[in-house]
Amino acid sequence: MKFFVDTADTAEIKALAASGLVDGVTTNPSLIAKSGRNILEVVAEICAIVPGPVSAEVAATEYEGMMREAAVLRKIASNVCVKLPLTPDGLRACKTLNGEGVMTNVTLCFSAAQALLAAKAGATFISPFVGRLDDIGQDGMELIADIVTIYDNYPNFETEVLVASVRHPIHIVEAAKLGAHVATLPPNVLRMLYAHPLTDKGLAGFLKDWAATGQSIA
Ligand code: G3P
Repeated sequence: MKFFVDTADTAEIKALAASGLVDGVTTNPSLIAKSGRNILEVVAEICAIVPGPVSAEVAATEYEGMMREAAVLRKIASNVCVKLPLTPDGLRACKTLNGEGVMTNVTLCFSAAQALLAAKAGATFISPFVGRLDDIGQDGMELIADIVTIYDNYPNFETEVLVASVRHPIHIVEAAKLGAHVATLPPNVLRMLYAHPLTDKGLAGFLKDWAATGQSIA
């Protein structure tokens, strides 16, 4: 499973990228707004930190505007992945960009039917928002299961399932069990994956016993 970091905070991205476990980054208009920075500058900085796909989302809602903005975004760096909303115009732009060899991430996916359309449009990634479905009492992971099942039926589909709107480690574990290709994690959730009280307790015990030996490894 590939791990992307879901933020436009370059300090967070730098810190987490040092782990060697970060395979890409996703942003969206809300994350760019939260960064308080110019989208072209912050995406360029992110692309220099992480060599993997960096999703930058168009703001236009019409095909022609999306294509104009995609042309600006893809010039930032070779690892820019153009993010498009799952709308008729967004999928039309996705189809065109796919034909031009541009990485695309189709976002705001909330149904298997939508995911089927995105695969037919040749999206590089599809982003089902599991947390927002959970938030309204639906089962986000059920959507992931449906999408993976459908995509597995068609070997010609090359779209990767990118689990988004992740709220906690269980989303990651369940997505991995289902075979989702990618998860994009808020920085705090990525850090949660490491944590277990028995690991902390066990390490403390090892260090206490080691100290008692008076030895050092040198
Ligand atoms: O990548 C999509 C993600 O940023 C949305 O997360 O928490 O706003 O549902 P959230």
